[in-house]
Amino acid sequence: MLILISAGPTREPVDAVRFLSNRSTGKMGYALAMAAVEAGHEVVLVSGPVALPPVDGAQMVAATTAADMAEAVKSRFPLCDVAIMAAAVADYRPKHPVAGKIKKRDGDMVLELERTEDILASLGKLKRQGQILAGFAAETDDVEANAIEKLRRKNLDFIAANDVSKPGCGFAGDTNSVTVYAADGRRFPLPFGPKVEIAKQILNIITGEIA
Ligand code: CTP
Repeated sequence: MLILISAGPTREPVDAVRFLSNRSTGKMGYALAMAAVEAGHEVVLVSGPVALPPVDGAQMVAATTAADMAEAVKSRFPLCDVAIMAAAVADYRPKHPVAGKIKKRDGDMVLELERTEDILASLGKLKRQGQILAGFAAETDDVEANAIEKLRRKNLDFIAANDVSKPGCGFAGDTNSVTVYAADGRRFPLPFGPKVEIAKQILNIITGEIA
C-alpha cells in the first residue's frame, strides 16, 4: 500500500525573522511512518520543521507553511491508498507578512490573522472510493462527541482522538492515550503507552480496513 502521512508543526511567517507555530514535535507522525515502513508499506512523509532524523525507507518531503503542506499533500493524495494526517497545521496565519524585519515602536501592535486551508477537510472532499482517510483530534472536553463530529464533517474513515487534558498525553511527550473512532461506528480504545506502540496499533486498525 502507498501511505501518505503528515507530521510536525507548520510555521507561518510574520516577517523576515519571526513566525507563528506550535509545540508539535512530529513524534506521533514519525512513529506512524516508521511503523508503516516496518509493515512493508511504501511511505511518503510530508513533514513540517522538526528536530527528528528522517525516517529510513520513507520518502521525505519537507514543508514549512500550511500552504506548502497543503500543496505537498494534495498533489500526492490521488496516488495513495491511505492518508493519515498527524501534522499540527496552523489554523491561522498573518494576513500581511512583511518582507523585511518589523521594527518595534512604542505602544501595542495588532497582528491580523487569516484562516489557513484545512488540509484534512480538503482531502475529505477529494477522496475517491477505496481510499482511506484518517486524522487526529486533540480535545479537552467531550472527547468522543467532538471527535465523531470532526470525523463526519471532514469525511474521514477514522479519527484518532487524544484527550490532551490527561497527564502524559498530547504534544511533545513520548506517551499518549488515544481512542480511534471509525466512520462505521466502531470504537477502539488503546491503552496508555509509548507513541511508537500507539502508532503500530493505529496503523493496524486503519490498514486492516483494506482487504
Ligand atoms: N488539519 C489539517 N489542516 C489544518 C488543520 C488541521 O490537515 N489546517 C488536520 C490535522 O492534521 C489533524 C486534524 O486536522 O489530523 C485536526 O483537526 P482540527 O479541526 O484542527 O482539530 P483540533 O486540532 O483538534 O482543533 P479544533 O478543535 O480547534 O478544530
